[in-house]
Amino acid sequence: MKGPLPLIVVAPFGNSLFEYSCLSGNFYGNYRDGSQTRSIMITDEFCVDSWASSASASLSASFAPVIQGFQQLVWVEEEAVDSSLKSSTAEDEFEQFLERLSSPAVIPIESYLDSEQHIMVNTEQGSTYELFYRTPTAALLSVSSHVALHLDTILPRYWKSTPLPSSPVEFIPVPPSAVEPIKSVLSTLAFSPTVASLVNNISIPQMKNDIRFLTGEDGQSGIVSRHSFVEGSRVAAAWLLARFVETGATCQLKPFLQGFAPNVVCRYDSVVNTTGTVIISGHYDSRGSFGSTRAPGGDDDGSGTTAVLSIARTIARTGVKFHQNVELVAFAGEEQGLYGSRAYARELRQLNANVTLMVQADMLAYRKPGEPMQLGLPDRIGTPEVAQLVANISALYSPELEVGFTPACCSDHQSFHDQGFPSTQVFERAGPIADPMYHNSGDLSDREGYDFDQLKAIAKVQFGTILHFAGFEVSK
Ligand SMILES: *[C@@H]1O[C@H](CO)[C@@H](O)[C@H](O)[C@H]1NC(C)=O
Ligand SMILES: *[C@@H]1O[C@H](CO)[C@@H](O)[C@H](O)[C@H]1NC(C)=O
Ligand SMILES: *[C@@H]1O[C@H](CO)[C@@H](O)[C@H](O)[C@H]1NC(C)=O
Ligand SMILES: *[C@@H]1O[C@H](CO)[C@@H](O)[C@H](O)[C@H]1NC(C)=O
Ligand SMILES: [Zn+2]
Repeated sequence: MKGPLPLIVVAPFGNSLFEYSCLSGNFYGNYRDGSQTRSIMITDEFCVDSWASSASASLSASFAPVIQGFQQLVWVEEEAVDSSLKSSTAEDEFEQFLERLSSPAVIPIESYLDSEQHIMVNTEQGSTYELFYRTPTAALLSVSSHVALHLDTILPRYWKSTPLPSSPVEFIPVPPSAVEPIKSVLSTLAFSPTVASLVNNISIPQMKNDIRFLTGEDGQSGIVSRHSFVEGSRVAAAWLLARFVETGATCQLKPFLQGFAPNVVCRYDSVVNTTGTVIISGHYDSRGSFGSTRAPGGDDDGSGTTAVLSIARTIARTGVKFHQNVELVAFAGEEQGLYGSRAYARELRQLNANVTLMVQADMLAYRKPGEPMQLGLPDRIGTPEVAQLVANISALYSPELEVGFTPACCSDHQSFHDQGFPSTQVFERAGPIADPMYHNSGDLSDREGYDFDQLKAIAKVQFGTILHFAGFEVSK
């Protein structure tokens, strides 16, 4: 007798999904499709039959039979970009991507250089795919695991990919007990002259130097690209580690997957006895233009990385100490689908770590000419109370920022959100992505729209969030 037919279920996210054990036990994560959040379950027709007979939610789900199994499942989605950047051929570009995927020379080999600058990609591998779900703004594909790692180089510019986990994952909502301390800080939040003087100490000239090293614009670092698989990302990692260590942090390079540059995890131990840990992060890896080896990532996410480093440098200059542990983290593997942060967030969950707050900075510096300085907070993935705290701290210390929500979504904070840690993201615009150099080899810091005043204003908000939430003392 044949067993039940396996099915991939893509359903609108909702807590009711988790009331069915054959769904919740086969959950593969939440993903974005335009303005919707979709949950993926890989189950079978028996489960779906019983769910469908009792839940109206099943009416808006889609079901794909798995006839021949699958390789690596990958979610690809169109990102939220400003209409000024949208090309009229956006739909064709996705079709071209699928064509590229099925042609033998699937990976543009000139994009991949190993540590000796040798081409390291085998183009013979994996040139088939299967499509399990498709809307104008998202798709679920099966590709070889090799191709999955390199999709970022052949995806259309405003599309991104996220690999699905290889086995079901637990849905871990942020528990109310983890939100209480945030509400409590919010309820007593008031301007502090000491915090103001600490956050104002962030240095723009220093940030200008730091970003020019990371992009290679200084002509000294030799960095051409910080793509996770190339030498430049390892140069950046070693340099970041050395700079953080200079500020008194204890740092580790944490590898997470063969071939990828490591995460850089730096820590300032609390001066009071607590396990509580606040994480402020960016991703130092980058993505360039299709077919080009250059990926300076000045805004994405050299800006977030530089903001995190500017906080470290300010900690050193001011001698501030914290009442919770503070980790400053530069992730890698973000552009291939949050690989670095997923590994770290999972590790912290397994260790039962007491991560009390996490704020990811991704793209802080671009300001569209004519627009005011802005701070965007994610409109869905993240903990609303954390976003509220960040917004209120912005009003206190960077009142020049216009704060609002952005549909630009799902940087490394999603990895922490998925593990039930309170988190949010800070972004450069209260609206969709408007940077014309986004995912482009021209993403340098010395160009129109790259605004160091906005970068500093947002870095102040990140630092102010640590100071207010963790608590601090200044002895110097
Ligand atoms: C930061 O503080 C240090 C120590 O008080 C001071 O020497 C330095 O000039 C300040 N820098 C800025 C940019 O405010
Ligand atoms: C820190 O607190 C823990 C738990 O309250 C306690 O077991 C430990 O002894 C304390 N350590 C120090 C150095 O006070
Ligand atoms: C986590 O850290 C916070 C902040 O220091 C502390 O209040 C809380 O008790 C800690 N939680 C656990 C489970 O140790
Ligand atoms: C936080 O900001 C909101 C919206 O601007 C405001 O209503 C609220 O009073 C602020 N809370 C504090 C503690 O400042
Ligand atoms: Zn980014």
